[in-house]
Amino acid sequence: MDPMRDISLNVNGERVDARVEARKSLVDFLREDVGLTGSHVGCEQGVCGACTVRLDGEIVRGCLTLAVQADGAEVWTIEGVSDSGEIAALQQAFLERNALQCGFCTPAMLLTAAVLLQENPSPSRVEIREYLSGNYCRCTGYQAIVDAVRAAAKKMNGGGQ
Ligand code: FES
Ligand code: FES
Repeated sequence: MDPMRDISLNVNGERVDARVEARKSLVDFLREDVGLTGSHVGCEQGVCGACTVRLDGEIVRGCLTLAVQADGAEVWTIEGVSDSGEIAALQQAFLERNALQCGFCTPAMLLTAAVLLQENPSPSRVEIREYLSGNYCRCTGYQAIVDAVRAAAKKMNGGGQ
C-alpha cells in the first residue's frame, strides 16, 4: 500500500499542496516540508505543548495530529500570527516582563495565550494559569508569563485587571 498521501491545506493564509507520509505528524510536516520551524518538538507524546499550532481555530498538539488530518484545513503557526500583527501586544508584554528565557516554550505560549484572549478578554491569574497549563516552561516558573498575559490583556482590551 502506498504510504504517501496528497494533501492540500491552508497554512498562514497560503495554500500548500504536498505529498506526505501517512504517518507524518503535523508539526514535522510544518517544520520539515513547509519550513516553518517556529513550532517546536519537545516530548512528542502530547505532554509539553511545545508543538502547539492552530487547526481550524482550535489549539492542537502538532505532535499528536497527523499531517493528513489537516487536509482541507486552515493551519496557523507562530510565524503567521506574528507576521499578521495579531500577537504584537503579547510579544511586547513577554519581552517587557521577561516572560521568556530559553524561548523554547514561547511560540506555543503565545499562540495559546492569543486564543485565550480571544475567548476571554479579561482573564484572571487563575484562568490564565489554567488555560496555559498544557504548555510546559522549564525556565520561568510561569509567574512572568502570567504577568505578561495580564499586561497584554489590559493593553488590548482594557481587561486583565
Ligand atoms: S512535542 Fe507535542 S506535546 Fe510535546
Ligand atoms: S522559556 Fe525556557 S522553556 Fe519556557
